Amino acid sequence: MKPFFITTPIYYVNDRPHIGTAYSTIAVDVFSRFQRLQGRDVRSLTGLDEHGLKIERKARELQKAPQAFVDGMAEPFKAAWDLLHCRFDDFIRTTEPRHKTRVQRMWQLVEESGDIYLGHYEDWYCVDCETFYTEKDLIEDQHCPVHKRRVEKLKEESYFFKLSAYTEKLTAFYESHPGFVKPEGRFNEVKSFVKEGLRDLSVSRASFRWGIPVPSHPAHVMYVWFDALANYTSELNLPLFDREKRHTLNRYWPSADRSAEAIHVVGKDILRFHAVYWPAFLMSAGLEPPSQIYAHGWLTVDGEKMSKSAGNFIAPEPLAEKFGADVLRYYLMREVAFGQDGDFSHTALQARYNGDLGNGIGNLLNRMVSSIVKKDLGGLVPDPVHRYGGFDHETDTTLVGVAKRSTQETASLFQQGLPHKALEAIWELVAAANKYVDSNAPWTLSKKGEHARLKQVSYMTLEALRWLSVMLWPVMPDRSDTLRKQLGLVALFPNPDTPCWPHVWGGLQPGTITQPGAPLFPRFEEEKKESARPVTVVVEDKTEATSSEPKHIRIDDFAKIELKLGLITEASRVEKSEKLLKLIIDIGEPVPRQILSGIGKTYLPEELVGKQVVVIANLPPRKMMGHESQGMVLAASDEHGLSVLLTDKALKPGSRIT
Ligand code: MSP
Repeated sequence: MKPFFITTPIYYVNDRPHIGTAYSTIAVDVFSRFQRLQGRDVRSLTGLDEHGLKIERKARELQKAPQAFVDGMAEPFKAAWDLLHCRFDDFIRTTEPRHKTRVQRMWQLVEESGDIYLGHYEDWYCVDCETFYTEKDLIEDQHCPVHKRRVEKLKEESYFFKLSAYTEKLTAFYESHPGFVKPEGRFNEVKSFVKEGLRDLSVSRASFRWGIPVPSHPAHVMYVWFDALANYTSELNLPLFDREKRHTLNRYWPSADRSAEAIHVVGKDILRFHAVYWPAFLMSAGLEPPSQIYAHGWLTVDGEKMSKSAGNFIAPEPLAEKFGADVLRYYLMREVAFGQDGDFSHTALQARYNGDLGNGIGNLLNRMVSSIVKKDLGGLVPDPVHRYGGFDHETDTTLVGVAKRSTQETASLFQQGLPHKALEAIWELVAAANKYVDSNAPWTLSKKGEHARLKQVSYMTLEALRWLSVMLWPVMPDRSDTLRKQLGLVALFPNPDTPCWPHVWGGLQPGTITQPGAPLFPRFEEEKKESARPVTVVVEDKTEATSSEPKHIRIDDFAKIELKLGLITEASRVEKSEKLLKLIIDIGEPVPRQILSGIGKTYLPEELVGKQVVVIANLPPRKMMGHESQGMVLAASDEHGLSVLLTDKALKPGSRIT
């Protein structure tokens, strides 16, 4: 099997992570985990795009030096991906020296091919896209077609890349690589764009400094897209090798003499850069284009693109805190057809949580391990009469048939880059296993004294759960570990060359000691009564974002919120959560309240004890990571962090805030 290299786009650091960028990141993590389970040698890469006018301006706006600003953004990204269980082999930042030298080398290779010349540029520039537009591309009144923002006229000396010379080469490449871009519809858009004829591309800027200097002319900095795209090969150290040897030295990049699969996952908005410019740069530098580009759609909120420049975004962290990171991963991968746009909705997330996860898989595990096996089988995986085949009961044969079909289909669908369909195929097995339990009703078998059948049915169901624990791992690695633990199995640690995708029925060892535990997906009963919005979803405070809501509320609306002064008497961390703190707060009631708050990244529990805070006292109680929270502590936040609202003098706990 070929080595497998997969990348996310590198993210602009002017935004914090949001569920749009989380979507690209999670998808790559899912694909790379799936390939690891197949026993492939996988390398996965993510990182940050830290240069360019957009970033320079943002730093200036915040009165920071660009380097200090970008340095401060790396941690939030790393922490967010970590929280979402996204694991990468490398994290590249375009301001790192290793990237700078390698991109400069790449530039030189392109220059040596005769594809770079000095000229003048005059056209419209959208800073949000970091792209030039010609007059005809603009929408009315000189606005960018993507961001609907006013573009700027730029005229300056610039280096150009001879993209026009690649029209035929690219067309020939597309013809000989029919699956180069997925989905096919987007590939067609790319092909027709190229067929119209390509214009040379401006690849340097002389009017600002925040970029990588052009080696032969340091007054120019490289166009941010040249710089950014090259991260994929600079991480692999490709262009540093001499022309003859560099292919054979690198296992993860495709080449004529060494096969590897390199896949870029990108949003549809940046497909052109990856499917047109990037292969042309690579060809010019004497390298092969990547194997494939998966272009996914946009996540929208109320039909609008989600990003800071669009004025609305949802941070992934509070959703992960509330439902669990794996649930958010599941929801995004299942709900949105990969390749198409999808709308994000809290109600749908909750419905998937309670339905597919809670009722589907959580319940299956619970009624088997915590009930039948525990009560009737001494907590051990039973020894069935028929373990590997030769079943004498039709429902057994059917279950194994569905399991085999489901694993094969799931593998093929993940392989094709269709995680939403792969999850549907997994859920065929979930449904079949639930149906199997329903129709065999093991709880009556024990009452009727049919022990042999009870053992058989329980074994079959436990084995189906074991298969599911593997199949679910790419999307829900943490829940898979928990599921396996309850089955008495160790967590999965895939290694290259040792595939663990299930294909032989009967692998679960009789006698294994199961470990019944808490439900995998406990229900959110209270949540259903509340509005479906989670507590701390971040909405940027731009007026556009809230313009559809009434501007003022009445004073009696405000009075409905019972705000009280609370004294924190105890504080501790919630297990397995970086962010959640469990606070015991005296608000003047006979029993102090237990309130969970997502402030654990900013505050140590011990520094909060003795502080007086503002509490919303009349919210319904709700469960967060298995703990009840009886209110909410107020905090303010911006892109640099958060701050809990404190009082400047001690008052009686429970004092009303008006
Ligand atoms: N820095 C460039 C990429 C350079 S790659 C060599 C960039 N960065 S970005 O931060 O603006 O976007 C990164 C990725 O996030 C893109 O794939 C983009 O499509 C994706 N998303 C940003 N907002 C999104 C949604 N609302 N929905 C889905 N994906 C979105 O472009």
